[in-house]
Amino acid sequence: MPKYRLLTPGPVAVPERVREAMARTLLHHRAPEFLPVLEEVFSGLKQVFQTDRDVLLLASSGSGAMEAAVANVFSAGDRVVVVRGGKFGERWAELCEAYGVEAVCVDVEWGQAVDPAAVRAALDATPDARAVLVQASETSTGVLHPIRELAELVHEKPGRLIVVDGISGVGVHDLPMDAWGLDVVVSGSQKSWMLPPGLAFIALSEAAEQAVGESTGPRYYLDLRKELVSQRKNSTTFTPAVSLIVGLREALRLLLAEGIQNVFARHEAMAHIVRSGAEALGLELYAPTSPAFSCTSIHVPDGLDGKALVKRMRDVYGMTIADGQGKASGKMFRIGHMGDVDGFDMLSAIAGLEMVLADLGYPVKLGEGTRAATERLREMLSAGDR
Ligand SMILES: Cc1ncc(COP(=O)(O)O)c(C=O)c1O
Repeated sequence: MPKYRLLTPGPVAVPERVREAMARTLLHHRAPEFLPVLEEVFSGLKQVFQTDRDVLLLASSGSGAMEAAVANVFSAGDRVVVVRGGKFGERWAELCEAYGVEAVCVDVEWGQAVDPAAVRAALDATPDARAVLVQASETSTGVLHPIRELAELVHEKPGRLIVVDGISGVGVHDLPMDAWGLDVVVSGSQKSWMLPPGLAFIALSEAAEQAVGESTGPRYYLDLRKELVSQRKNSTTFTPAVSLIVGLREALRLLLAEGIQNVFARHEAMAHIVRSGAEALGLELYAPTSPAFSCTSIHVPDGLDGKALVKRMRDVYGMTIADGQGKASGKMFRIGHMGDVDGFDMLSAIAGLEMVLADLGYPVKLGEGTRAATERLREMLSAGDR
């Protein structure tokens, strides 16, 4: 039986040290033993978010932090611009609708990054827009959006906010929250943080925090006004996800010991290995011009069944990769680069892919993709990279 390999863009493989930490005796969240855990976690999160602002913990998946952003920063009747270039851009628009916030959508072809000029045009046509909502890495398509440029144009008008879904972006790409003036940044534990799902993070700039105070929107569990008060006192309003937070402390120790610039470089290296292998196999990348380093998205070759490809990778070769989402389901597949994976795992992914393609009748010469990926990995390792 092949080894179980979790190679999706979330959830991701969790390092042994993190799993061990979570398996230790459960602490009570109001007991003194838990305080240093929270303190260390809050400090580590700030370093990865690259902010002096507080990063709040929520017991939810990443979408909970997205919902917290919309529910707390805006009020019914507000207008915002949403970049909609994938499943998660659609989620911003759906959340806005749920809270009565009018979303003016900039629709982007799946697989492409948004053109800042299109966002500028939407802002010009919507002078009362309070914010732009966007993904950093749109995991459903494998695209990286130009966050720095968008932040600059959003801030051409004082008071306007940029709200960034960094769920698969923070800890993968260099997205310095303070230096780039990002107003709201959210993330989720099952991505670069190398944890199981169930924890979300949200950080607010001073302007965003002011907006939270002014919003008239309904909120209860995800009321950031309460969390800001509690978490600044080194506590949480409700029972926190204690075991995940203990695991997060360990994961942050690993990430910070590696150095966050090296963490970004690691994700980039994983992406390059997979891309070189896929291209050598004659496969077409789904996001060729602005690829994110969270995952590589690849077109299913014409005539092949994408769902069968993903299923066979899992059932026969032990590798769990991801199908496309929404309208890309069956037409594209994704190999993740986050979590406890290294270059040899990426090599395995390419080897497994070659085998599945051959099984499905695609004209592949076994070894063509792995050769390119091996050369790439060897170059990296022999140059001292990971
Ligand atoms: C960019 C992005 N946004 C939002 C989400 C949704 O997060 P969750 O599934 O943790 O609620 C994901 C998860 O895959 C994501 O990658």
